Amino acid sequence: ASSAATNVVWHQHQVSKLDRVQQKGIQRPAVLWFTGLSGSGKSTIANAVEQLLFSQGYHSYLLDGDNVRHGLNQDLGFNDQDRIENIRRIGEVSKLFVDAGLIVLTAFISPFREDRQLVRALHSASEFIEVFIDTPLAVCERRDPKGLYKKARAGEIKHFTGIDSAYEAPEKAEIHVDTASQSVVECAEQIVTYLKQHGYL
Ligand code: PPS
Repeated sequence: ASSAATNVVWHQHQVSKLDRVQQKGIQRPAVLWFTGLSGSGKSTIANAVEQLLFSQGYHSYLLDGDNVRHGLNQDLGFNDQDRIENIRRIGEVSKLFVDAGLIVLTAFISPFREDRQLVRALHSASEFIEVFIDTPLAVCERRDPKGLYKKARAGEIKHFTGIDSAYEAPEKAEIHVDTASQSVVECAEQIVTYLKQHGYL
């Protein structure tokens, strides 16, 4: 964009991510990037994971769709361009939190494969963990916790994911969570087990 800053030089900090991690010494920072339809359970499961991490003394931070859209991204809607920018900003923020040494959980639909790929590329390979919350559209629509599917079907909400806006499911997410066959707690435990088995915790 023509208004983008020039003459801005990246400033190398004196205290590095490695310093922070070694001082804490208890966890390897990473992003758990949740993706899934509206009503799939992203926020619920991410919250359950965070509770487990907190109770075991780990440091985490949850970035949640609805909350971030009230603040940082309150200027963005749901057309394709705005969703792309939404995910780009969250990607950058998640990178800052990883740099701060945290286990970051992000709970956004993030419907487009290309955008998730761009966010993945922002992070080093071992620090990005894609978590597919795999709940079929029919199930999300039956739950309809906020009544949004009903409104979308009635044409009162345009560009609703799964109805008249695409959701591109991940092809090889690091963690595939099947919500039909497991409870919320079991889904959360599956994710924490992954973190332990792969040396993050
Ligand atoms: S995205 O696609 O990643 O930019 O979306 P996200 O920031 O996660 O926001 C999704 C939540 O916004 C509500 N909402 C909509 N979702 C999808 N499509 C449309 N048009 C829409 N309008 C509002 C909805 O409650 C989503 O919440 P979750 O938690 O996913 O159910």
